[in-house]
Amino acid sequence: MKVVTTIAEVRAAVAEARARGDAVSFVPTMGALHDGHLSLVDAARRLGRYVVMSVFVNPLQFGPNEDLAKYPRDLEGDVERALSRGTSIVFAPSVDEIYGRDRATEIRPLQIAEEWEGASRTGHFAGVLTVVAKLFNIVQPDFAVFGQKDLQQACLIQAMARDLDFSLKVVVEPTVRDSDGLALSSRNQFLSARERKSALALPRALTKVRAAHRAGVRKVAELEHVAEEILSAEQGIELDYLAVVDTRTFKRVRTVAGNAAVIAAIRVGTTRLIDNELLEP
Ligand code: PAJ
Repeated sequence: MKVVTTIAEVRAAVAEARARGDAVSFVPTMGALHDGHLSLVDAARRLGRYVVMSVFVNPLQFGPNEDLAKYPRDLEGDVERALSRGTSIVFAPSVDEIYGRDRATEIRPLQIAEEWEGASRTGHFAGVLTVVAKLFNIVQPDFAVFGQKDLQQACLIQAMARDLDFSLKVVVEPTVRDSDGLALSSRNQFLSARERKSALALPRALTKVRAAHRAGVRKVAELEHVAEEILSAEQGIELDYLAVVDTRTFKRVRTVAGNAAVIAAIRVGTTRLIDNELLEP
């Protein structure tokens, strides 16, 4: 079976793969698959022969003002895309299968989740970590693959795996972009042609910051100014946040020393977009 809906079925399939001696890699998603998600399948295949993808729109990570009902769903199309890219099995459980029993436990993140996406979406990261921990325990993979597109999420999951001693390796893969530079996202479909043009200021600004960092600029105020200049010149967008942060803490720093990233969120019309670039030593 290539698509399963129960915990028992996916566990049985993984056990069979293990009995054959295959390493197991895991790609968690909420479906509406695009090339960004599928690039994670490519990475998963390089890591382990047996690739499990979950497709589960997790109600726990949606805030009261975020429309869970409107989240794009296309399981049939997703299965077809996932399998033709080399996914071994798609795990698409119902909400009841995952949260059917009364729940006495959640995973609540500490420092890394305080600001940025964590501040603008209360409870979001607790919802993400709780479902990811459950999925890790259900699938028990050797590798789990996440996208750099959601950098704060990826760093939180890496920290959780370390803090709670999950015996798997969390791998983070680069952001896949359209040819115009915009990071692929299921939300891009909501942009008009004009809005999309405005939205391109985001990757343009972040690339400029990376270039300035590469050229030796280490003062954060100076790096942020480079991006702010580009973003404020664009009429059609509203800046939610822009910051250079240490990727271990997700706190703003004054000077870039170790591993850092420039992260940003903007609003274009009613659409909210996030993006980032790593500033590596
Ligand atoms: P979702 O938004 O479906 O994303 C699934 C994975 O795809 C995440 O790891 C995300 O970072 C990655 N991704 C999205 N756009 C990408 C792009 N343009 N390039 C590379 N990777 C990209 O993130 C979630 O689902 C959920 O929070 C989840 C982790 C599944 C927990 O419910």
